[in-house]
Amino acid sequence: MDLWQMIKTWFHAFKPSEISPLSFKNSPEMSFRFAGEEDIKDLLSVERDVYEDIPWTASHFKSEIVTNRFSTFIVAESSQIIKGYIGLRWDRKFSNLHISNFIVMKSWQHKGIGTQLFDYALEFAKINGIGKMSLEVGRDNQEAQGFYRKRGFESIQILESYYADGSDAVEMEKVL
Ligand SMILES: CC(C)(COP(=O)(O)OP(=O)(O)OC[C@H]1O[C@@H](n2cnc3c(N)ncnc32)[C@H](O)[C@@H]1OP(=O)(O)O)[C@@H](O)C(=O)NCCC(=O)NCCS
Repeated sequence: MDLWQMIKTWFHAFKPSEISPLSFKNSPEMSFRFAGEEDIKDLLSVERDVYEDIPWTASHFKSEIVTNRFSTFIVAESSQIIKGYIGLRWDRKFSNLHISNFIVMKSWQHKGIGTQLFDYALEFAKINGIGKMSLEVGRDNQEAQGFYRKRGFESIQILESYYADGSDAVEMEKVL
């Protein structure tokens, strides 16, 4: 992290996307960028595509993308339609990058988009000297848990009745 980045980080004056521009490798088929408020409608469409009950509302997204200075979202876009995204929340006190949300549209899964989004999150953490990454994932969501385990995450604890429907979550962590 250079001196200018450190000053901006200390004063908490900028959102993560402004502190750390990532070098997104875009192609005509798929491009990546930080999300803005104007994307919230499309993010909700992706939620609706994947989940029966939408866990995140417009105000959740607004809080993470616009209001919270420590949060940002990276989106994957094809033909100007968002196909997936990863939400990042930077807890500077604990040197932790929390994955707040991570989804790829059903018909676009298993094509490597999730891996690319995850790799940008990892790159973001590394260039900012962040010590670990964390997330919560449904206890029954074996596929996503496998995805994270393969990428070095370990289960830390079970969070009972974590979700609104009463189901449990697993807290996972990766030390960088
Ligand atoms: C978890 C999730 C975001 C992963 O996104 P994705 O785009 O499917 O991820 P990838 O395609 O990069 O990787 C998924 C698997 O497909 C494989 N894959 C990647 N490219 C592939 C291709 N071209 N052909 C076939 N398989 C491929 C990957 O190797 C990976 O397997 P692995 O985890 O054993 O390595 C996605 O499955 C999802 O949205 N799930 C529902 C929401 C969810 O559970 N989110 C997590 C909540 S915490």
